[in-house]
Amino acid sequence: MTGAQSQRDRKHMDPQTLLAHYERIIEISQQLNTTLDHMALLKKIITAATELINADAASIMLLDESTGELRFAAATNINPHEMEEIIVPLEGSIAGWIATHGEPRVIEDVTKEPSHFQGVDNTIAYETRNLLGVPMRAHNKIIGVLQVVNKLNGDHFTEADIETLTTLASQAGTAIENARLFQQSDFIAEMVHELRTPLAALKASTTLLLRPEISEEKRREIIETMQNETNRLIQLTTDFLDLARMESGRTKLELAPFDLNKLIMESVEVVRQQAEDKHIRIFVPTEINYVVKGDRGKLKQVLLNLLTNAIKYNREGGSITIYTEQVEIDEQPFVEIAVQDTGYGISKENQRHMFQKFFRVASTEGYSQGTGLGLAITKHIVEAHGGHIGLESEEGVGSTFYFTVPLVQE
Ligand SMILES: Nc1ncnc2c1ncn2[C@@H]1O[C@H](COP(=O)(O)OP(=O)(O)O)[C@@H](O)[C@H]1O
Ligand SMILES: [Mg+2]
Repeated sequence: MTGAQSQRDRKHMDPQTLLAHYERIIEISQQLNTTLDHMALLKKIITAATELINADAASIMLLDESTGELRFAAATNINPHEMEEIIVPLEGSIAGWIATHGEPRVIEDVTKEPSHFQGVDNTIAYETRNLLGVPMRAHNKIIGVLQVVNKLNGDHFTEADIETLTTLASQAGTAIENARLFQQSDFIAEMVHELRTPLAALKASTTLLLRPEISEEKRREIIETMQNETNRLIQLTTDFLDLARMESGRTKLELAPFDLNKLIMESVEVVRQQAEDKHIRIFVPTEINYVVKGDRGKLKQVLLNLLTNAIKYNREGGSITIYTEQVEIDEQPFVEIAVQDTGYGISKENQRHMFQKFFRVASTEGYSQGTGLGLAITKHIVEAHGGHIGLESEEGVGSTFYFTVPLVQE
């Protein structure tokens, strides 16, 4: 296929259509550069791809550098749940070939192509007949593949289609990179802002300590403040790191079967003293022993986050009850773990923001320290296990946070 052929393809279009086509490409390109929301951006790209190429469906697969696999990031014909399940191998798939060779590829009849990866069609019950894929680059590095399948009206993909999709992919690559950088810089800005508060407190304390007229009692007080602020800095930096790792997909879970009740007992032991200080009693399940499959250390972090919240945002003399129950999600066995407290509860409006990073209910800020990152981290961990997290809460009565983890099948 040559440039000359592409010229011929274009000649099939009447000048009016051709003009409209170019105008549409320019319009899309402008839209892409103003969209910084990652998901919205990807959706715009695939919609534009089906429209410009006149194909039935389009998808974007992004390269996961750490595992060397391609994963669907957006597709017009695959739902998000199915997308998560599908891993496209670099070897043994056409998209993998495109990502490795950095060249476009047209397959006129996938049934005659041994390297076509059947996994996608099998999962989503779709019949791919033909496809065109092009590599997506950012800063000269291949970051994924943009692919259209099943050209409409029984037509063939043309050289002009390859050119159009390549143009779109190159604009998309830059836009994706911009959106990623923007998200990162947003996070860094918020992080630095959060670090400034304890640092300012520490600076003020040192200035005070240097004053000769300060009483011994006052001196003790200042040092205690400094200790608190230092602890807060340590907690903040640990949480930031955890969250940054998870958001960029650099956290790898170490999955193994383990006894859930033992983990619950262990976690309760960690917070026992903190609960007793507020005269809060903790009730744990004893009847059924569940063996779950997950990253034990990370799931302990989930339990500790929920338990410390249930203590921090509870009333003096309140209680916490942990429930476990087997549930089915998409015919797979899971255990639902619920942590119920008798605390202040959370208003409907605040419930909607509960899992956003840095979110704290304004009225709780006064009486308890926190980073507002605990639940955001918790949600990441649970979802990385294929589970769900949610809450029910009533103001003045209490809250129940529940999450699911996969059960080991007997
Ligand atoms: N069990 C609970 N009861 C009432 N409010 C809660 C509970 N858990 C969390 N919250 C509210 O949600 C906010 C976010 O929680 P989290 O992400 O763990 O951050 P942090 O505990 O560091 O503030 C808390 O500041 C608190 O206002
Ligand atoms: Mg917390």
